[in-house]
Amino acid sequence: MTPLEPESKVIALPKPDTTRGIPVMTALKHRASVRDFETIDLTLEDISDLLWAANGINRPEEGKRTAPSAQNAQDVDLYVFSKDAIFLYNASKHQLELVAKGDHRNILAGRQTEVLKAPLIILIVSDVSRFRSGENELRQLWGHIDGGMVAQNILIFCASEGFQARPRAWMDHSQIKEVLKLSESQYPVLNIPISGKK
Ligand SMILES: Cc1cc2nc3c(=O)[nH]c(=O)nc-3n(C[C@H](O)[C@H](O)[C@H](O)COP(=O)(O)O)c2cc1C
Repeated sequence: MTPLEPESKVIALPKPDTTRGIPVMTALKHRASVRDFETIDLTLEDISDLLWAANGINRPEEGKRTAPSAQNAQDVDLYVFSKDAIFLYNASKHQLELVAKGDHRNILAGRQTEVLKAPLIILIVSDVSRFRSGENELRQLWGHIDGGMVAQNILIFCASEGFQARPRAWMDHSQIKEVLKLSESQYPVLNIPISGKK
């Protein structure tokens, strides 16, 4: 059973386990993009730790995150696409909030349908309106760099846990915009299908 029930509008995530994982150097040794995904669900604890590692709040007194961001704009949002629904990660409350019911992973997979074996796909979106200054071109550049930082946190966490992952730029931007009701300033950066490992 998936731990992300779409009947709940809000899913409180367990407290992140910051003692989890293997040495960073060993995780880096294992990091690789997987093509042949397993179909193994992550537990709610796994999802909680994954999202916190990705872009959670690690310094609550300052409200700062595990991933850096230009101008500390904290422009990156994470959407979790499961077989049942799409959720938005609210880092300050460390909870998932329902965005849409149903399996919408196909708008991320496109022709690479093999990634649909992965039970979860994380979509990284930058909202460039959160930068205090900068022309649009520069904001987009920073947004994509910030998204890349979050992606690498996810990939290293997955490597540490033996989870399968692959960063992907391909996705259907117009359908994503429609389903997620993104504003003009929100840009999908990368998506990362993830499976647990046997
Ligand atoms: C910015 C970026 C975009 C990528 N887009 C895709 C993609 O759309 N589809 C895909 O299958 N792999 C994609 N990849 C994964 C690369 O193909 C993969 O990282 C590369 O082959 C190197 O393999 P490794 O990650 O195992 O070292 C992307 C990687 C990056 C960094």
